[in-house]
Amino acid sequence: MITNTELEYKGNLYPNKIVDFLQDADKLFFTTANGVILQITILRDSVLRFRYATENVFEPDFSYAINDDAGIGYNHLNVVKTETEYIVETSKIRVLVDIDTLRVQISDLDGNIINEDELGFHWEENYEYGGNVVKMSKITQGAESFYGMGDKATHSNLKGKRVDNWAMDQYAFGKDQEPLYKAIPFYIGLHNNISYGLFFDNTFRSYFDFAHERRNVTSFWADGGEMNYYFFYGPKMPDVVKSYTDLTGTPELPPLWVLGFHQSKWSYYPEKRVKEVAKKFRDLKIPCDAIYLDIDYMEGFRCFTWNNNYFPDPKKMVQELSDDGFKTVAIIDPGIKVDKDYWVYQQAKDNDFFCKRGDGPYMRGKVWPGECNFPDFTNPDVREWWATLYKELIGDIGVKAVWNDMNEPAVMEVPTKTFPLDVRHDYDGHPCSHRKAHNIYGTQMARATYEGVKKYVYPKRPFVITRSAYSGAQRFTSTWTGDNVATWEHLWIANVQVQRMCMSGFSFVGSDIGGFAEQPNGELFARWIQLGVFHPFCRVHSSGDHGDQEPWSFGSEVTNIVRKFIELRYQLLPYLYTMFWNYIQDGTPMLQPLVHYDQEDTQTHFRTDEFIFGKQILVCPVQEPNAKGRRMYVPRGKWYNYWTEETIVGGKERWVIADIDKIPLFIKEGAIIPKYPVQQYVGEIEITELVLDVYFKIGAESSTVYEDGQDGFDYKKGRYSLRKFRLRGKENELIIQQFKDGSFITPYKNFTFKFHGLPFKIANVEVDNEKVALKDLKLNGNNTIEISKDFTELHITGN
Ligand code: NOJ
Repeated sequence: MITNTELEYKGNLYPNKIVDFLQDADKLFFTTANGVILQITILRDSVLRFRYATENVFEPDFSYAINDDAGIGYNHLNVVKTETEYIVETSKIRVLVDIDTLRVQISDLDGNIINEDELGFHWEENYEYGGNVVKMSKITQGAESFYGMGDKATHSNLKGKRVDNWAMDQYAFGKDQEPLYKAIPFYIGLHNNISYGLFFDNTFRSYFDFAHERRNVTSFWADGGEMNYYFFYGPKMPDVVKSYTDLTGTPELPPLWVLGFHQSKWSYYPEKRVKEVAKKFRDLKIPCDAIYLDIDYMEGFRCFTWNNNYFPDPKKMVQELSDDGFKTVAIIDPGIKVDKDYWVYQQAKDNDFFCKRGDGPYMRGKVWPGECNFPDFTNPDVREWWATLYKELIGDIGVKAVWNDMNEPAVMEVPTKTFPLDVRHDYDGHPCSHRKAHNIYGTQMARATYEGVKKYVYPKRPFVITRSAYSGAQRFTSTWTGDNVATWEHLWIANVQVQRMCMSGFSFVGSDIGGFAEQPNGELFARWIQLGVFHPFCRVHSSGDHGDQEPWSFGSEVTNIVRKFIELRYQLLPYLYTMFWNYIQDGTPMLQPLVHYDQEDTQTHFRTDEFIFGKQILVCPVQEPNAKGRRMYVPRGKWYNYWTEETIVGGKERWVIADIDKIPLFIKEGAIIPKYPVQQYVGEIEITELVLDVYFKIGAESSTVYEDGQDGFDYKKGRYSLRKFRLRGKENELIIQQFKDGSFITPYKNFTFKFHGLPFKIANVEVDNEKVALKDLKLNGNNTIEISKDFTELHITGN
């Protein structure tokens, strides 16, 4: 065996022999003769943290990513020393720490290796900046696949790729381009039907190499900071994603309108134009809940000001839009114009809130308003001040939500497109340079914005959108994928990016539908809408330097298709809201790539296009022009074609018809899908009917419907309605049981059950063991009945 001492080559340093071991409750410390300390913390039986110090010194322990409420506690911990290794065992996994080299091997309790160090931890001293370049290399297991990593615009399976985490403004980025807007250093590995996750919580620029440089090696490293990673054991992928999401947190529920359709453009102005667009939605009866104001609403691009020529009375306009069901969302950037007569600039200057260069002067850079200074959002006092700036915009004028852009941070006319690395940051009392704060800057801006919006929109719920993000940002904000392009390839990219983000703990995400740069044709726009309505965040946005990009901009055929799909989204709002509830309650990603849905089926490991929307709807976008359908992989199980009601058995690839007015869409058999009537905006009508589309199955399946007041915080006091339905179907019989939780009284009285695929004609209906006369059920043909929403058991039999 090669020892680590022999490996001290190319400036890399390695730990040597363990000379000391200490256990302090849930923390284990392994110290080597050359001053490396490995600290293993047992957070849960399946979640471990690995941290390495050099020179015997750890950094102060601080992270922006970790959620304070993350679950901790384990059932079992045992440490044994043998001649060659320490064996650490929990009730789920076993970790071997090699005494000679400090290398780690993690296996399950059956001895299946999950993850093991190749060279393991090593480092290079950084003379220029101090500290180390910290590195880790692992053995790539046989047939191992890799997923996750946030917004990477590349094949969903990262095997053979190298990625770079450095938040960057990437106008019109391309497929495989690196780096992009976000830094989410979390991946999922899968081999031998075992999934595990690894989160490298280090905000410096970091890189991951998934068997790209060396076929059998997976490595990751960062320009500074500590080797500090969390390991999550599955063995099923949903367990991994849930554990990571629990550690880094989930958001609060957004108001329901946020899950509606949003229309944006750079920029809608003046007021007359904004109102024209809004009116057109209502005239054409295309549902829409939000309209966006991009930077031109401001006075000379000064944040928190209004251009009074374009918008003479913003409060009135926002109110009028609101009367018509439109929520106004406004953009806010981090760059504050250097202008001594501008109040935001003055306040920041007076309080010393701007970022400074290494030697003391303010960080200056060009953005839309020209020369700007930039608040240091890593300073808690700055965040608190920033939140107060929303008083007028949100509290007085009535804007409902804020969109934070350019917060990588983006700087124009410089090759690096961002701050120089010597810029200083407070980092919540851990002063550092931009090398460490860069990737977290956007998240801290969004966090400050969230606090402000939350305060002034109260008692309503806040909604924030950000472009840049680091792990954990999902606690405060939603996001979009940045400046994409109106091409078919970008439709593919949007699909991959949104799924990937969902796998990376960040579900509240969407793309600029139709493409930001360049002009889509009607067909591309229609296909993008068809995908976009199945994304958690659904917004059309475009750069506005080409033609219009509204639902009616491409002729009546496209308008009708767009309306049909936006209507479908509004019908599915209770399903979507339930997806959101599942996401925030247990970290279930809102979209599941097929590998997440069924990792056991190796066919899913390299699929990119198909995904499960929530838990029971299979979607596969058409991503090519002139298509009448497409080939797609249908995962195992039985599925109903949403359009034809035909049932098919999955587990193979097949051709699915989907002309321009359809997207391949399948419902899992046994599912009960809740639907609202179409509304032009959330709250337009009182919901007097909940349709439950029941897709018959021989066997059992469970479904859930979450509802509440659609806004406000009463749901936190138990005022919600959570219905669980258990369906059991037999040849001549169907039983649906309902279990209800929460004290919210839904406004409708009855459920309208629509049965699909029922193999018999309804002859008898019993509700809670009492026979109901068929004539009382408003029976519509063979398959629609109305039942009181309070039933516990519905029992239907055929002849
Ligand atoms: C860049 C953003 O990505 C884009 O969405 C926005 O329209 C422009 N900045 C102008 O604010």
